[in-house]
Amino acid sequence: MTIPIRKFDAIIVGAGGAGLRAAIQLSEAGLKTAVLTKVFPTRSHTVAAQGGVAASLGNSEEDHWHWHMYDTVKGSDWLGDQDAIEFMCREANEVVVELEHYGMPFDRLDNGRIYQRPFGGHMSNFGEKPVRRSCAAADRTGHAMLHAMYQRNIKVNTQFFVEWMALDLIRDAEGEVLGVTAMDMETGEVAMFHAKATIFATGGAGRIYYSSTNAFINTGDGLGMAARAGIPLEDMEFWQFHPTGVAGAGVLITEGVRGEGGILRNSSGERFMERYAPNAKDLASRDVVSRAMVTEINEGRGCGPERDFVLLDITHLDPKTIMQRLPGIREIAIQFAGVDCIKDPIPVVPTCHYQMGGIPTNYLGQVVMPTSSGSQTNAPVPGFYAAGECACASVHGANRLGTNSLLDLLVFGKSAGASAVEYLKQAPRAHKPLPQEAIDRSLARLDRLNTQKDGASVHESRLAMQRAMQNHCGVFRFSDKLKQGVERIVDIERQIAATEIQDKSQVFNTARLEALELDNMIEVAKATMVSAEARKESRGAHVRDDAIDSAERPNGRDDKNWLKHSLWFKDGNGNRLEYKPVVMSPLTVETIELKTRAY
Ligand code: FUM
Repeated sequence: MTIPIRKFDAIIVGAGGAGLRAAIQLSEAGLKTAVLTKVFPTRSHTVAAQGGVAASLGNSEEDHWHWHMYDTVKGSDWLGDQDAIEFMCREANEVVVELEHYGMPFDRLDNGRIYQRPFGGHMSNFGEKPVRRSCAAADRTGHAMLHAMYQRNIKVNTQFFVEWMALDLIRDAEGEVLGVTAMDMETGEVAMFHAKATIFATGGAGRIYYSSTNAFINTGDGLGMAARAGIPLEDMEFWQFHPTGVAGAGVLITEGVRGEGGILRNSSGERFMERYAPNAKDLASRDVVSRAMVTEINEGRGCGPERDFVLLDITHLDPKTIMQRLPGIREIAIQFAGVDCIKDPIPVVPTCHYQMGGIPTNYLGQVVMPTSSGSQTNAPVPGFYAAGECACASVHGANRLGTNSLLDLLVFGKSAGASAVEYLKQAPRAHKPLPQEAIDRSLARLDRLNTQKDGASVHESRLAMQRAMQNHCGVFRFSDKLKQGVERIVDIERQIAATEIQDKSQVFNTARLEALELDNMIEVAKATMVSAEARKESRGAHVRDDAIDSAERPNGRDDKNWLKHSLWFKDGNGNRLEYKPVVMSPLTVETIELKTRAY
């Protein structure tokens, strides 16, 4: 079947922070650049990032990128690649100041400098005490960031395709990436976006879990497309549960609340984090705080009639601080928890928030993969780049620090864009011929949806997947539950391969889109469950009941056998795992040596 072909120098899939930042780089270089996005750019999920972006500007107290690097390596439980982490922390000040110059309305100190607040796991002097490193625009930092970068893109003539969903990544026989097939969500029209460089900035897949702070659009589209095109997914067992989702609603309450002095309390009013993290307390890293909260609840010290949440207390703060620094949080607490946090504490529970893993990249934003099965040598996939939550550089390793996500998307959005510019400018090239059979395979997915009868319901299959993820692969993990989880996900995958959309007319494309999204989500869910079942240690956000805690394996972390990244490959209807080493050598400084992680 022939479909219209639209040609660009570069296409970017996703218009959140990473996509917008990459687009600025390409459009400013004079390249014909298109951005495809399921929602209007300023409604992308970056909008939900509240508390700030990390940079060691040192506006309120002494700070240094090397301290930031140390905190990030420690936060990652040593699974982060130290070259990429050094690169990110060194670049932080520059990308934040660039953003300021794009017009980002940061909060200000009295002296006019950017306001900075403390955040979990960010410390001064190699782990000594919390430091003010998060550059914030009240509690709406992501929102302000999207507006600043969207305006900049308009100025430099980036072309936006709004409400277009990418369907499949198109690679030729040499493995080169030539763009994507995509669907106009309003009309159902399908087109080939033919490009010399393709950047994925499709965000995360937090919707694979039942309870999530993520937007409904976060369905792992980039990961599903990459997996179907033969590209592995890295470190998918590592998912962050944000400590403070509103109980029962999942909506995010920023860690910035604790940065401004908020305290977590159990049913007897105790500040329980003092027992779990005597130094950092409520500002320990997220995996530590989430596990402490679940332990409090499991041991009967939760609050409410079911004792199934804890309380986030800011009633001791000056109401003026709350209104100035946390106005959005007050609104969320009133709307979703029915409490005015000036007077009463907010009920909170850990909620799925962020995927640390993703499409493997290097710190230049190039997608990389092993040169052959089992090979330790990585090579860039020609013409393919990724940045932001869909990518794994890997700077977050086994646990991300808050505010490093906005930094990640600025730094790696910029470097992916810059790498694509260099690729296109160094060797001016024509568009390569398109492989028709790859396009036909993509269209066949749509044909199946249009003709499938007597299949499973999309809604029920999605719910089954979300429940399986929540029950079998949560904050604490159990070996028998993980094994059952793999079987359950394989069953659900079979069901999803034959889902039926009820309304096959082109009128309500949402049914078709939800089915297409589910194809992507199930790849991510399977990669997560399989990788988690296979990793027989505890590290960062992945904590198992059967990991042995000993002098050689502090907190169950087994560096001898498991200091390595997992790579999950979709293999026809099956799958396989390979592993690659963690990069322990930074670019210019000495290795941050392994040690026991405590806050
Ligand atoms: O808590 C927050 O404001 C979230 C920030 C982040 O995930 O980086």
